[in-house]
Amino acid sequence: MTALWLVTGGCGFIGSHLCDALLADGQRVRVLDDLSTGRRDNLASGASLLTGDVGDPELLEEAMEGVAGCFHLAAIASVERGVREWRETHRVNLSSFIAVLDAARAAGGVPVVYASSAAVYGSNANLPLAESVATQPLSAYGADKLGCELHARVASVVHGVPTLGLRFFNVYGARQDPASPYSGVISIFADRLLRREPISIFGDGLQSRDFIHVSSVVAALRAAMGAASIAAPVFNVCSGHATTVLDLAATLSDACGVKPEIRHLPPRAGEVRHSLGDPRASQKELRLPSPLPLPTGLRDVVEWMRAGRPLLVSG
Ligand SMILES: NC(=O)c1ccc[n+]([C@@H]2O[C@H](COP(=O)([O-])OP(=O)(O)OC[C@H]3O[C@@H](n4cnc5c(N)ncnc54)[C@H](O)[C@@H]3O)[C@@H](O)[C@H]2O)c1
Repeated sequence: MTALWLVTGGCGFIGSHLCDALLADGQRVRVLDDLSTGRRDNLASGASLLTGDVGDPELLEEAMEGVAGCFHLAAIASVERGVREWRETHRVNLSSFIAVLDAARAAGGVPVVYASSAAVYGSNANLPLAESVATQPLSAYGADKLGCELHARVASVVHGVPTLGLRFFNVYGARQDPASPYSGVISIFADRLLRREPISIFGDGLQSRDFIHVSSVVAALRAAMGAASIAAPVFNVCSGHATTVLDLAATLSDACGVKPEIRHLPPRAGEVRHSLGDPRASQKELRLPSPLPLPTGLRDVVEWMRAGRPLLVSG
């Protein structure tokens, strides 16, 4: 059935892919975005755009009008900006989310599916990280994402707003920002490999991450909308596979058809050594398909870069 969906942050990396998928499925899409990190040319053809701040109550009232559900992806998705601009990132990442929940409540209980993050786990060493392990955020960004989960519970339990939170791990794919702390390394490595330049790895390269392709994240977002409830569930969105930075460089080099020249730099202070999620609960409860294999997903990124779409980076 065709319905109208609100996507906050719909001009960003993940949001724009979600809009593409909804529209391809015959759905209608309204985007709310301030274009701070998102790009107008990411706006999916056929989506309408409300330009402004996601914490603006009047804009939110207009945005919620007649929608079947809200996908909340707008955020300052940067741990580093959370350090530099603590109060402003808190305003956008948590206070504005409460404004979204309040607008959903005022609109009669519009279901809200929202982006949380693996950052809520901090450096918890109980790998793979299941949703039940202790949350120990180490950054303002992670603390605000955990706050989103707590306030979503309030929205559900106190105000009857169905919600569902998704803890994204390292999302990658076309349109990702090379400056992203999550998967920017993929754009940076691919860019340098395609230019036949050496790639730099911090430390020994044996640090690992759980990379998940954006198409698998979109599938999770869409399934989550059908599972949003006043129980306010929260699920990981991850592949369940640990990939070291050295393995990533090797797989990406294959995708580029280039032999890599690797330079090692001193390790970065404070970096989480290993991050690995447990996808079993989300795969079972949201009935998700198997995540796209990394080599396939990386070929997609390389094709996008070869098409000349990315912002090229230096250094
Ligand atoms: N990319 C990842 O690997 C990853 C991992 C964990 C969580 N997340 C979360 O997923 C969501 C989407 O991330 P992304 O990677 O697509 O980031 P992104 O920066 O590409 O997208 C965020 C979008 O929100 C918009 N936005 C920012 N502040 C706004 C404001 N005040 N008002 C209105 N719009 C605003 C930006 O313009 C942008 O279009 C975020 O909530 C992020 O914290 C992302």
